[in-house]
Amino acid sequence: MHILGLHFGHDAAASILSDGRITGYVLRERINRVKHALGLTRSEIDGVLTDAGLSVQDLDAVAITSTQNVELLTGLIDGLDIDILPHDAHGIPATFAEAAKATNNRVEDLLVKAVEPTFRGDDTGFESIVYRHVFPDGETIDWDRLDSVGWLDGYVTDDAWRDPVDLPSLAGRSAELKEELRFGFHLPVTVHLDGREIPGYFVNHHMAHAASCYFRSGFRRAAILTHDGFRSGVGYHGGFFAFGDGARLWPVSPHYLAIGVLYEMVAASIGLGEVGGPGKLMGLASYGDPVLFNDRFVCNEPGAKAKFGTSLTEAWLAYCRQAIRQGGYDLAAYGDKNAMTAPVNADIAASTQRLFEEIYLAAVSALNGMLQNAAIPCDNLCLSGGTALNCPSNTRVAAEGPFDNVYVEPCCDDGGLSVGASMHLYHNLMNQPVTPPAPYASPYLGRPYADTDFDTARQAIDVDMSSPDKPALAAAQDLAEDRVIGWFEGGSETGPRALGHRSILANATKAENWPRVNLLKKREAWRPFAPAVLEEDAGDWFEGCPIPSPYMLFNARVKGSALPAITHVDGTARIQTVDASCGQVYQVLTEYKTLTGIPVVMNTSFNGPGEPIVETPEEALRFLTETDIDAVYIDGKRFTRR
Ligand SMILES: [Fe+2]
Repeated sequence: MHILGLHFGHDAAASILSDGRITGYVLRERINRVKHALGLTRSEIDGVLTDAGLSVQDLDAVAITSTQNVELLTGLIDGLDIDILPHDAHGIPATFAEAAKATNNRVEDLLVKAVEPTFRGDDTGFESIVYRHVFPDGETIDWDRLDSVGWLDGYVTDDAWRDPVDLPSLAGRSAELKEELRFGFHLPVTVHLDGREIPGYFVNHHMAHAASCYFRSGFRRAAILTHDGFRSGVGYHGGFFAFGDGARLWPVSPHYLAIGVLYEMVAASIGLGEVGGPGKLMGLASYGDPVLFNDRFVCNEPGAKAKFGTSLTEAWLAYCRQAIRQGGYDLAAYGDKNAMTAPVNADIAASTQRLFEEIYLAAVSALNGMLQNAAIPCDNLCLSGGTALNCPSNTRVAAEGPFDNVYVEPCCDDGGLSVGASMHLYHNLMNQPVTPPAPYASPYLGRPYADTDFDTARQAIDVDMSSPDKPALAAAQDLAEDRVIGWFEGGSETGPRALGHRSILANATKAENWPRVNLLKKREAWRPFAPAVLEEDAGDWFEGCPIPSPYMLFNARVKGSALPAITHVDGTARIQTVDASCGQVYQVLTEYKTLTGIPVVMNTSFNGPGEPIVETPEEALRFLTETDIDAVYIDGKRFTRR
């Protein structure tokens, strides 16, 4: 069974799921070099078919997602067309399609279109700025040629899902595992690809988030919370609670949170930018104190409407503006990029971070309450959607939340949706058994490169090359001698965090490496760096965080003072624990520990400012020639500037 997964929204990706295993994965941003790129082209589809050793003829089904309410831009793909009609071979119940048919509604009439007006209008709002960034093709595209199939706004036919309530009320409800909801978040369509008609399935955005996390968690049973930055917080478009048991996955309830957008808007308001702002806000929060935090704001959107008569984001921003005026802050520094760590910005960041954590914890408790009220025992929790990239929040959920075990997936951003849509189809809808990952789900889904790719790269870029007998030892010696190196190995990581396959590594014991590497990467000087640590030694150097922590999604407190380059101003670090499944980088850390006694190095993503992580050998070598990095290792070869 080969399923082609297509995610057309921002962080667009194509993938192949073969009998439940991921055999091909391409994130478009790594190819077109636009961070968070939107839209797919033929090259991503051909790429994953080649990686999986398949042709279009081998495909059994296509699973499709997009950003909520953003249409599919199929005109960019030669040979692909989508009909909003079930294929003859469909045999899976589809609650929504059946309801539409029973009420004489044409599904086509229920589709919304959002991208085209965003691009072609003169909108200068937040959303428009973001989409223009992730889809620069929109400026030059011939829209008359583009076939932009619409996207479903509402799947659900269940009354309980249309009744927005606050978090305490949700916690008092009882979870019901309804089959019409399990089959309610997809729509059968027909995909035409190179003349073939293939059964296709639109899969709801958050159903795909839930599936990609749960089915790769290793849990046989888990509660699931998905949430991301979708604007309104109304309905279920910002995410929902779900429950997984074996191959089955039930949506349980919307949670009506809107703390992804809250975080984005606060980041933009203090000048951290519309794209990439939330990640920076998380780092900035450690410089401040959460003195503006007020637990009146711990609520979801229905709760905010009842208390403030407006959205939580508007209420919180208005409150912060008033509070800083009354708080004796130097207001000239507010939103000043050159004074970002000034108390006014840092305290807003810290207070917003605290608010985010408290609301997230309240939501997790509400989910637990719903399961307990239904007498559904469950020790495990899966977190997905972009808000699960918030490490301090994840750490508090693991430490203080009601679930014993917490799994956060490395591609909890939208980059994981193409895989999640296929997994939802294969396991939940087709009832195929789940094979647990071992020891945990690999984040290295990108394609490896062949010798010919290196030859091409070296012809294009004039650098010196050597072939050390023991590349891991050579890299460890470089680090011990305080060189900053690029480490490129096999297939790239999915998700936004570099985990030792496209990483810049540096000596973590030298305080000056913090500003040094920020300068090298042209980042703001105040932004922190994370460590990679041998899993077996992690407990000796870090505490207060689940171990293993293989995806850099939890925060730990750093023990002692030996690691100044990766210890944030509040004494924490976002750790990656490394074991043999990570590849050669495990040997680098092992050799480095033998040389220095320290099993920890600085690990940051291998990219320049505003760029996606490097994908090809050529991009890695270009980084070597254009920056002050001391050496680059590519699959065991060592490169330096001439
Ligand atoms: Fe999402």
